[in-house]
Amino acid sequence: MAYVAALFLGTQVLLAQSTAPVPTPDPFWNVPDIGSLPDDDHGRLVRRGRDLITATYAHIGPEVPDPSKRYAGNNLACRNCHLDAGAKKFGNPLWGLEDLFPQYGSEAGRRITLKDRLNACMTRSMNGRPLPLDAPEMTAMVAYIDFLSQGVKPGEVLTGYGSGRMAELDRPADPRRGETIYRQTCAICHNSGGQGLRRSLPDTDLGYMVPPLWGPDSFNNAAGMNRLTTIANFIHDNMPNGTNYLFPRLSPEEAWDVAAFVVSQPRPQKADTDKDYPDLLQKPVDTPYGPYADGFSREQHVYGPFGPIRAELARLKAERAVSGPRPTGNGGTSR
Ligand code: HEC
Ligand code: HEC
Repeated sequence: MAYVAALFLGTQVLLAQSTAPVPTPDPFWNVPDIGSLPDDDHGRLVRRGRDLITATYAHIGPEVPDPSKRYAGNNLACRNCHLDAGAKKFGNPLWGLEDLFPQYGSEAGRRITLKDRLNACMTRSMNGRPLPLDAPEMTAMVAYIDFLSQGVKPGEVLTGYGSGRMAELDRPADPRRGETIYRQTCAICHNSGGQGLRRSLPDTDLGYMVPPLWGPDSFNNAAGMNRLTTIANFIHDNMPNGTNYLFPRLSPEEAWDVAAFVVSQPRPQKADTDKDYPDLLQKPVDTPYGPYADGFSREQHVYGPFGPIRAELARLKAERAVSGPRPTGNGGTSR
């Protein structure tokens, strides 16, 4: 009897654990100190990698003197979006990644390595061409990212990946309200036309003091930053520049609306985006370009609300799980 009760209690405890997620305390971990690296080959490689991330435009940007090094198509730096050179919580950090790759990449529809992921930012966020996998610049940036992962135990999940996850609106985000917020809060730095503030004349490789948010020298339409959820959370946790996620300056609603304004502006268009996400059911709900499997309009995919799209995708996935995978190659189903 006592045995049965214990078994019963044990099951209850297990059930309670599996339904209510227990918050795990933040592991004690600090970004490793690059300054303490010795001045040897490895130390110099890691420092070179950091320079490439903080001043990308000066090394592989479109204005560098050596045409063969013009890999990036715009004058942004990785650090414009990977804040504090990839060390800021909810500022798209680049730490703790060594152990996360290779992973399944839904965009590519296959397993991708850290180098593949980096090249996705080269062709989308940087609107450029991929770095050869053995390019010295690739080796250096990966060495820096691996260095940032030091001390993170395998399997350990740190707080602060990505750019956060605030509650979603139950209405479409509104670019017109967003424009007012932009004029009041963002234009002072990012400029009235979203073009940012260059350090020098446009044909130099000195990059920006404040990066552009749209226009010909910005990230392209297929960049992660052009997805409403990503950019809205990034803005909420990090903008105006200097904001920390613990003390956001904009309300979530303001962040969604100003993000809607930014993504509604013109920017470079990537070729061949119809080849992204070969499995359309894996396509993030806020991908701003088709094709879509769910029948919702492009407009709803851009501005939300995303809940109904998610529900429809879940229904389609469940249906597929029952009927088995669709045959590929003939473009249709067997039913
Ligand atoms: C315009 C903003 C922007 C720029 C510039 C940019 N990135 Fe990114 N990057 C992102 C965003 C946003 C993500 C997360 C995307 C997502 O939601 O999948 C990301 C993801 C990554 C990841 C994967 C991180 C993870 O947690 O899995 C790596 C590695 C990376 N970027 C490297 C770079 C490098 C190196 C550069 C410069 C050559 C660069 N990025 C430039 C916005 C940017
Ligand atoms: C005080 C000046 C300042 C203000 C105000 C400001 N930003 Fe920024 N923003 C920056 C700087 C500087 C960066 C690049 C940070 C870095 O490189 O460390 C940046 C980066 C960004 C990025 C990512 C990089 C890119 O090119 O897209 C976005 C998106 C962004 N800001 C949006 C906004 C929005 C929206 C607002 C208004 C709510 C805003 N910012 C207000 C200075 C500012």
